[in-house]
Amino acid sequence: MRYKLKNFSIDGFDVNKIAKKYKTPVYCYSFKKLRENILNFNKNFKHIDPLTCFSVKANSNKILLNEIGKLGLGADVVSIGELLKALKSGIKPNKIVFSGVGKTKNEISFAIKKKILLINAESKSEILEIEKIAKIKKKQVNVGIRLNPNTDAKTLSQISTGKKENKFGVSEKNFLELSKYIRNSKYMNLKCLSVHIGSQILDTRPYEKMLKVLDKMIKKINYHFEYIDLGGGMGIDYGNNNKRLNLKKYSSIVKKFKEKHKTKIIFEPGRSIIGNSGILIAKIIYIKEGHKKNFIIIDAAMNDFMRPALYNARHRIIPAVRNKRKSNKSYEFVGPICESTDKFSTLKKFQKLYENDLILICDVGAYGMSLSSNYNTRPKPLEILIKDSKIKIINKRQNLKDLI
Ligand code: LLP
Repeated sequence: MRYKLKNFSIDGFDVNKIAKKYKTPVYCYSFKKLRENILNFNKNFKHIDPLTCFSVKANSNKILLNEIGKLGLGADVVSIGELLKALKSGIKPNKIVFSGVGKTKNEISFAIKKKILLINAESKSEILEIEKIAKIKKKQVNVGIRLNPNTDAKTLSQISTGKKENKFGVSEKNFLELSKYIRNSKYMNLKCLSVHIGSQILDTRPYEKMLKVLDKMIKKINYHFEYIDLGGGMGIDYGNNNKRLNLKKYSSIVKKFKEKHKTKIIFEPGRSIIGNSGILIAKIIYIKEGHKKNFIIIDAAMNDFMRPALYNARHRIIPAVRNKRKSNKSYEFVGPICESTDKFSTLKKFQKLYENDLILICDVGAYGMSLSSNYNTRPKPLEILIKDSKIKIINKRQNLKDLI
């Protein structure tokens, strides 16, 4: 992904040509980047030999899941829908873990039927439900318990999950009680201790703290877990401050932990696998002169890409065609939706833009399309994948007929 002279191109394809042929807004993924991310992840964690389960919530496109599966990853799912997608994409049940605080009877039953690797339970009620269903089915189910380690992930509060005020996991006290209960059950095998403290974590310190809590817990319960599932959360560089999680450093910390506890490590990365492999191409509909800034109204909106509106997240915006003229007003990039939070960024000293120009919103591969909606009765965008010098449509644009 780079500028070739003035025009931006993705793996050899000029985005202007892509937009002309496929229209906008369009999510465009690079297989090359996706593969590179997976190889880089594997390389960094090589000496740990983990089971890496891609967190399907980050991107649940079936063709991308199939590619991710072929590159050796399993799946971390949180609903029957995600489980079905993972299975349909060819990911084997013995590489699938199921997380989430509110798994229904139906979801638990289906997961047991499919013999997935682990159900990571998050409450006493859920454990009782799993046992009840397993008993009816006369099956033994492999379960994990998700611990809430009360660790601050030092990330955005909306995507922090490991503090005691968060709904996720169980307290240390409950963990002790529940692990005893499962160990005495005829229908459940206690296989895993799982955690996930948050997303877009940029520093290894929160992880170190989390591992210390796990250390203490394992000592206290004096039990050998076959798996320790450390969740995901590895932060990527969104281009604002050049920061990303140092995977190598994290890996060496986990290595020590693994050697001490002689267990198999599971990771559930989402963003770090797919985040920077996707770009959203959008077209400027109107430019509206404001008092102090110009509003650049584009044809993508918060329904297509929700992170800025939901978390005030900042994504780089770049022009599809570079020019050398600078604007003296700042530009606020907004969508057409009737909400003031439907804005992407305010940028100063941007190059001059004109109506019908194309702009690119970067690093939207994770929690982009998967968070999209039909708000304002807007059809969801098209998704394409560039692989082996070919463009493939991997999800059709919704049309108005689908919606109305
Ligand atoms: N495992 C569990 C149990 C999770 O809840 C999550 C994310 C992950 C793994 C993957 O985390 P990752 O490696 O992608 O950080 N929509 C938000 C992110 C929400 C994350 C929810 N859980 C965003 O756009 O930043």
